[in-house]
Amino acid sequence: MQHTDTLTIMAANAPRKILVTSALPYANGPLHLGHMLEQVQTDIWVRFQKSRGHDCLYVCADDAHGTAIMLAAEKLGITPEQHIDNMRQTHQSDSAGFLIDFANFHSTHSQENRQWSEEIYNRLKANGHIASREITQAFDPEKQLFLADRFIKGTCPRCKTADQYGDNCESCGATYSPAELIDPVSAISGATPIDRESTHFFFKLPEFESMLKKWLDSGTLQPQVANKLREWTDAGLQEWDISRDAPYFGFEIPGEPGKYFYVWLDAPIGYIASFENYCARTGHEFDAYWQPGGDTELYHFIGKDIINFHGLFWPAMLDSAGLRTPTAIYAHGFLTVNGTKMSKSRGTFINASTYLEHLDAEYLRYYFAAKLSDSIDDIDLNLEDFVQRVNSDVVGKVVNIASRCAGFLRKGFDNTLTEQCAEPELLAECIAAGDGIADLYEAREFNKAIREIIALADKANQYIDDRKPWVLAKEEGKESEVHQVCSVGINLFRVLMTYLKPVLPAMAEKAEAFLNTSLDWTALEQPLVGHTLAKFKPLITRIEPKQIEAMVAASTPDQAAEASPAPKAAKPESTAPATIEFDDFAKVDLRIALIVAAEHVEGADKLLRLQLSLGDEQRQVLAGIKSAYQPEDLIGKLTVMVANLAPRKMRFGVSEGMVLAAGPGGDEIYLLEPHAGATPGMQVK
Ligand code: MSP
Ligand code: ZN
Repeated sequence: MQHTDTLTIMAANAPRKILVTSALPYANGPLHLGHMLEQVQTDIWVRFQKSRGHDCLYVCADDAHGTAIMLAAEKLGITPEQHIDNMRQTHQSDSAGFLIDFANFHSTHSQENRQWSEEIYNRLKANGHIASREITQAFDPEKQLFLADRFIKGTCPRCKTADQYGDNCESCGATYSPAELIDPVSAISGATPIDRESTHFFFKLPEFESMLKKWLDSGTLQPQVANKLREWTDAGLQEWDISRDAPYFGFEIPGEPGKYFYVWLDAPIGYIASFENYCARTGHEFDAYWQPGGDTELYHFIGKDIINFHGLFWPAMLDSAGLRTPTAIYAHGFLTVNGTKMSKSRGTFINASTYLEHLDAEYLRYYFAAKLSDSIDDIDLNLEDFVQRVNSDVVGKVVNIASRCAGFLRKGFDNTLTEQCAEPELLAECIAAGDGIADLYEAREFNKAIREIIALADKANQYIDDRKPWVLAKEEGKESEVHQVCSVGINLFRVLMTYLKPVLPAMAEKAEAFLNTSLDWTALEQPLVGHTLAKFKPLITRIEPKQIEAMVAASTPDQAAEASPAPKAAKPESTAPATIEFDDFAKVDLRIALIVAAEHVEGADKLLRLQLSLGDEQRQVLAGIKSAYQPEDLIGKLTVMVANLAPRKMRFGVSEGMVLAAGPGGDEIYLLEPHAGATPGMQVK
């Protein structure tokens, strides 16, 4: 009897083996706050699992294939490989800035992914799940390219508005087939598309109808998601077109020259590839995670726009290939800002990097946590509420507990806590709440978890308010009471910060330094007594509304297009920057550039368009130096440029780098120029 009980308990406490992914961002643009909503949700869940002692790994990658990426690279005059490399670097640094703790961030354009895509395709084919037939498609005779709907534009057949893309009209909302557009043209070349036949390959989804119906009824998916996907099965599943014709940036289909896997075929396989790459690097076990019937768990965090790929096509492919299906798919809603879709003209289409230039990542991690639930409802970032909520909860309530107590402990008690906890019941109440809070994290009800934690913070503050250590400290003979109250406060703070650690990992690290202990969820039963603290340093500062204004201004094209590539040194507010490691500096590719052409930019107040030669390569840079230079005076001069800055699309064109200049701010600007002897393309070290 005793024996069995122990076994059951051990099994329940055994570390789970969990693999987690979030959707692979497209490598054709920078990450924005919508992407960060997803990565933050995933990261909080993963950090929570780890804090409970589980073996939980979070892998992701860039989704690097497709026509859009091919065309974007062409426009920039670089190879698709260069383009996706650049994007991957900026994506990784944005995610790191938001404290996203990937075990691995890979690319779908990788050897592992090619192998797995071919392997899975071959298995599907061997099982008779691949069909092929001729289809007719719009073709751009000039570009020699088949045109997806979104690459065709023309006049709406209903309301006659010109310049409407693909299969729906933005003006009247009509939907139609691109063939019905009046005067259709290729959005790429402007040529009139012609019809052309070509052989395509299809995945026979209808053969998975009963498997998928069972899967939709299994409780694996959120009810709203399962309902949405039942619309597909109810309407009758269609075969899924998984091939594209050359030219295409992707993987060629084995044995089918000129035919490529459609980007959405190899994208989810990228989850496997990224994990395999991680295992090869670290020696972690791989097979157990992809074989059916094992004791590992697999979760995909995704946005609600891609549930058909993950909830229908992907499980069917895995099933045919003899691989395990996901334990669950966790879909979330879309991020809106100030109540509406993110909008460039309103300055609410905010890139991750723009946010990070103005605000601390943990503010947003907290706000997202306070709003995220297990549902697919959209989530609104209301910028006013954001400031108010973070300042009031994190700074005003949680950090406040520590900062109120730390001073007294330092002044009177050598930073050392009492030998016994004077308020064991209050502390026990906070600790007892932990199981419920853990259940809420597990269920992705982060909003409820935060509500509980903040309610506990309210209790802690109430306790300190009632006992008034600042009054006691002035009274004779009340020292030990001050000591007790503040020691209780610090113990409460420790418990709350432990609960918040998955959301606020950097702040938790600072709290650990201050508390001189690690915030370990499994060690909370043991209060901190007779324990010496380190010096208290501010854990986080309040958000100033002007930081928000600056971020919105930088996200508004009219203001940002002009301001963004302005010479770095010309920003007056850039005082004493933080030190960086040499490796960080070495990432910046500084080159001598020859200004071969310079001209005014029509409509821009501050910009000049520079053509820069790096010897074997030319770049266009839009530089905010108009106030200080006549274009003709610049031609023939040498300067210094950042050559590996990801290209930026601005209102007046793409800027492919940045020139260096000095200045006190405002209109006074001095371009840097090397001493005689330097030549274009030389690296600046
Ligand atoms: N490349 C595909 C995913 C392939 S997964 C095998 C893709 N990329 S994406 O860059 O468009 O989106 C990546 C993720 O970000 C998706 O889960 C998407 O739902 C999410 N979001 C993109 N915009 C979003 C918001 N505005 N709000 C919340 N999530 C959003 O889709
Ligand atoms: Zn119309």
